[in-house]
Parts: sequence; structure tokens; C-alpha cells
Amino acid sequence: MSSQIRNAGIIGIGSFAPPRILTNSDLEKIVDTTNEWIVTRTGIHERHIVDPGVAASDLGFEAAMRALDSSGVPAEKIDLVICATVTGDMIFPSTSCLIQDRIGAVNAGAFDLQAGCSGWVYALSTASQYVKSGVYDHVLVVGVDILTSITDWTDRSTCVLFGDGSGAAVVGPVGDCDGVLATHLGSNGAGAELLKIEAGGSKLRTSEDTVKNRQHYIKMEGREVYKFAVKIMGEASIQALERCGLTPEDVDLFVPHQANIRIIDAAAHRLKLPPEKVFINGDKYGNTSAGSIPIALDEAYRAGRIKPGDVIVTVGFGAGLTYAAAVIKWTMPQL
Ligand code: ACO
Repeated sequence: MSSQIRNAGIIGIGSFAPPRILTNSDLEKIVDTTNEWIVTRTGIHERHIVDPGVAASDLGFEAAMRALDSSGVPAEKIDLVICATVTGDMIFPSTSCLIQDRIGAVNAGAFDLQAGCSGWVYALSTASQYVKSGVYDHVLVVGVDILTSITDWTDRSTCVLFGDGSGAAVVGPVGDCDGVLATHLGSNGAGAELLKIEAGGSKLRTSEDTVKNRQHYIKMEGREVYKFAVKIMGEASIQALERCGLTPEDVDLFVPHQANIRIIDAAAHRLKLPPEKVFINGDKYGNTSAGSIPIALDEAYRAGRIKPGDVIVTVGFGAGLTYAAAVIKWTMPQL
């Protein structure tokens, strides 16, 4: 380990989605909705969902192995595993510990981080501080959620939005002026009530009543969250760009959280970005929460949409309410 300040960047990336696909027409058979409503209001056509019994650590493991493989860094050289999730295998132990064990990262510490759909960007920001400071050389950053495990399939206003998936990156030292140039993290806890699972924590313990009242499922004031997201996605991106002396004109590709095409369009409009500079894959995955951004980054990279030297802006929002943006100067070679 070095003790000097240096830059940190993504040196390996991978993602995974379970093979089973739930289409909008499948949802039409479960709740009172239509393909037309879902597509026009969200841009989502289908999502990947797990079979019962598949846990966050299973999806996280797959993405982690792909990221390790892409980095060429052996598991025993990983110093720390951070897993961003709101749907960990259990309340404790942490899902990061389970992933750490399965990948054979025998020299790594591990902890989970919870910031809703912004979680992976929070984790990327945390990891890059460890690497920049020289405390650690290689940090594995996993984002995974199985939102379908906490989805109320009788609530049409939420169940059409979510999917399952995972993404991971290895963060390590990169050259001067490369890698994670800046991050901007934010929280608006005043909006905590807008998006929550009420029961199962220390405040409202699980009971027959909480189960009967469906309080173990996601509850969301969608319209309010939407207004917050439309405002914050552009603002947070601009703040992160300002922190490293850049402007939206410097952005080569915008890789936002894939919650809703209308939210993405509003953010792109605010940043004055043309469609070819905006990466979208939410039509195939829905909102995969902490998995959303690393899945999108991985797909954009593998599709040849990102090349070395490109300036990438990624931004998310979610439960908390939280928001987080990162500016990344890409260093990985084109595939
Ligand atoms: N199918 C058909 N109609 C529906 C559906 C559905 N699936 N869901 C709601 N509707 C109806 C409503 O009942 C309402 O009907 P009404 O006018 O008769 O009352 C109408 O459609 C409009 O509902 P709104 O909620 O106002 O629709 P809106 O245009 O706001 O879109 C949406 C709803 C898509 C949920 C939007 O508000 C949104 O995207 N919000 C942000 C959600 C989000 O991204 N959350 C991310 C965080 S997830 C996390 O952190 C774990």
C-alpha cells in the first residue's frame, strides 16, 4: 500500500441480471394496468426477476466475479468489499461479508452501505477515498437489489416499476487527472416518509398485524418522488461537474439511474445533452435500485459507448431521500 495521494478509478466492471423476464403484458395479468400506461409513464418494457430462493448475495457474487475478471485483480488482492443494497440477504450479517467469502477475498474487510437507489454512487465515492488516500489499493464496489422481494404485487403504482440485478466495479489507482474526478452526495431526510418500508425495523417490529397491513412492502408517494428526482438529477450532476472544474459541455456520456425515462429526459434537458450522449437501458431492466447504475455503466462500456478519456457523469436518487453524482474520466481500454 502506498501512503501518497493518488487518483482512483474503475479498473474492472461487470454486471448480472437473472434470466427470468417479466414483461408488461405479464403484469397486465397480475394488476389493473396496461403495457401502454407503463411504457408511456416509465419507458419500461420488461424487467428481470429472480426465482424465489435467489438472494442478493447470489446476484452480487455473479457481478463481483465478472468485475474481478475484467480487472485482472485476483480476489486475494481486494482490500475491501462495499455492497450497496436495501435488500440484503438478511438484516445481518451484511451481504458484503457473504460476497467477500464466496469470491475468496480472504484479505478484505467488508461492509454494506444503504442509500437506496443512490447507493452504488455513494459506495463508489467511499471506495475512491480509500484508494486516493493510499489506505487501500483495490476496493470492490457492488450494487445489488432484489426489489421484487419487497414489492407489493397488489399495488399497481409500484409493482410495475421494479426489477432485480447487480453490478460491480473494482476501484484501484489510475493516472493523474483520470478516474473518479469528483462526487457529490446529498440527502433530504425530510422526504424520508415518501419512500419506505415501515415494518421490520426497530421502530415498528414485525408482527401479524404489520404483515396483514402489508407494511413489509415498499410504500411510495410516486408523484412527490418524481418531482424531487426531476429537480435533483440535473442539479447534482452540475454540482459534481463544478467540483472538478467541468461543465455539461464536457460530458461524453450521461449514465443516470434508470428509474423512469421521463426523469432521465428532464435531467438530460437540464444538462442540455443530446440523446446520443444519454445511456438508457431501463426499458429492459426497470428500476433495479443499487444495481441500476453499475449495470448501465457496464452495458455502456461493453456496447462500445465509452472509450478511454471519455468524461462520464452518473447520477442517482432514491430512498432517504438521497442523491449522488459522480464524474469519471474513463481509463479502461475499449473491448
Ligand atoms: N397502471 C395504470 N394506471 C396506473 C398505474 C398503473 N401501473 N399506476 C398508477 N396508475 C394511475 C393512478 O391511479 C392515477 O389514476 P387517477 O388519475 O385516476 O388517480 C394515474 O395513473 C396517474 O397516477 P400518477 O401516480 O399521478 O402517475 P405519474 O405520472 O406520477 O407516474 C410514477 C407514476 C411512474 C410512479 C411516477 O410518479 C414516478 O416515476 N415516480 C418516481 C418513482 C421512482 O422512481 N422511485 C424510485 C425510487 S425506488 C427506491 O429507492 C427503492
